[in-house]
Amino acid sequence: MSTVSLSNAKPAGLKVEALVIGVTNGPKGLVLAPGAEDVDKAFKGRLVATVQALGGTGKKNEVVKLPSLGATGAPVVVAVGLGPAPQSKGEATYDEETLRRAAGTAARALAGSARVGLALPASTVGEIAAVAEGALLGAYAYRSYRVASKADHKDPVDAFTLLTGSARDRAAKKAVDRAHTLVSAVHLARDLVNTPPSDLPPAVFADEASKAAKDAGLSVEVLDEKALRKAGYGGILGVGQGSSRPPRLVKISYRSGRGKKHLALVGKGITFDSGGLSLKPSSAMEWMKADMGGAAAVIAAVTAVARLGLDVNVTAWAPMAENMPSGTAQRPSDVLRIYGGKTVEVLNTDAEGRLILADALVRASEDSPDLIVDVATLTGAQLVALGSRTSAIMANDDDLRTAVYEAAKGAGEQMWPMPLPEELRASMDSSVADIANMGDKYGGMLVAGLFLRDFVGEGLRWAHLDIAGPAFNDSPPHGYTPKGGTGAAVRTLVRLAEEVAAGAL
Ligand code: BES
Ligand code: MN
Ligand code: ZN
Repeated sequence: MSTVSLSNAKPAGLKVEALVIGVTNGPKGLVLAPGAEDVDKAFKGRLVATVQALGGTGKKNEVVKLPSLGATGAPVVVAVGLGPAPQSKGEATYDEETLRRAAGTAARALAGSARVGLALPASTVGEIAAVAEGALLGAYAYRSYRVASKADHKDPVDAFTLLTGSARDRAAKKAVDRAHTLVSAVHLARDLVNTPPSDLPPAVFADEASKAAKDAGLSVEVLDEKALRKAGYGGILGVGQGSSRPPRLVKISYRSGRGKKHLALVGKGITFDSGGLSLKPSSAMEWMKADMGGAAAVIAAVTAVARLGLDVNVTAWAPMAENMPSGTAQRPSDVLRIYGGKTVEVLNTDAEGRLILADALVRASEDSPDLIVDVATLTGAQLVALGSRTSAIMANDDDLRTAVYEAAKGAGEQMWPMPLPEELRASMDSSVADIANMGDKYGGMLVAGLFLRDFVGEGLRWAHLDIAGPAFNDSPPHGYTPKGGTGAAVRTLVRLAEEVAAGAL
């Protein structure tokens, strides 16, 4: 992974391959953002005119590259747009997500450079953290499977020097350390999502999860198909039975020693979702290697929580299965017995995520955690409701839903609260079993949320994140978000764990 180091050196003298500055578009046109003053001096006050002459307007995420012709230590100055300057009379601080995205855009535009200086607004700890996170998040490439085309795809920036007057500030250093830990977890989730499903069957996914957990000093338990059968995990087994590659349930535990609160995380780990016998059309399968994005997020988040040493106990549960059609696959109208005994009539084998999550939610509930948060690429209806970049938050507790929303906002992830309308529950009443895995055709995301709610232990606080769209970016890269796996929900989960550790929940 790339690194960020803090320096209070003058930007213009910095010996790097490129120096990034910020520009805003105010009412009077393009204006330099704080951090660029010294560079402007080196350019003899002509920086604004030069950026404008090259077509720069300062609008968000615009990139203009200028040759410095010896005026600065860096041969290239890169002006990245920040949009309108913050409207405040006193000390103006920049919106953190704007800085994160701008730094990420600059990092992507500078792929192939070894050393890059960041002279963006960075006077507060929040700004420093945002710039560091954005740069590191943007410096990502997944190239494990490139051979002949490897040279066409540049290495991410190797090292960033973040210029700030607060370089010696302890809080600033801590924020940068946290950014490294957080982003390395996001990169882990992205790598797992990007891995071709042929190379990530449940057993291998479980091994990768174990490796990541052990590296972070965590204890891991993996239930294989035999252990799952013995304990009665009918949901995971039912979904996994159509594949030649058997399912797993991974449990990763972090115990702070001091922590009083216990947070349980549950993530959907469908390594490939063909739909099963309720087969998807081929175009709908293109994203389905990403159907383990929820599991990747909880695995990554618990490793970050451990590395940050947060004062909270966290248990991450990742049920893993491959949903395939075959002679051994489950049939529509089969009845499964979920862990703990409740029965589910499988009306559609493509509504498989809720089946494996049901097992894991019941099991997670057995330990009576203070909070349960599940994360899943659960429904196409999430994309219909909120688009491809905004995750949905559902919960059985208003305060928890609000807390998750606030955590997401603070972390810079787009999420929005959604209801669990009581009247939709009856649409899942089954003529043979306790519940069916499908209900009303409208509000499919909410129906799925209501299904999960039935498997959460009595009296426990629970939130459900549907990240179907946000887990995978099928469009060109933007801001700090690459194409492919995004690592959605990792930053929110870590932030939430920090809130729990701080006693806020
Ligand atoms: N993994 C899909 C949901 C999904 C769709 C994720 C698109 C990402 C992008 C899930 O298992 C699924 O197939 N859900 C069905 C449920 C339906 C059969 C009730 C859906 O949303 O169509
Ligand atoms: Mn499905
Ligand atoms: Zn699925």
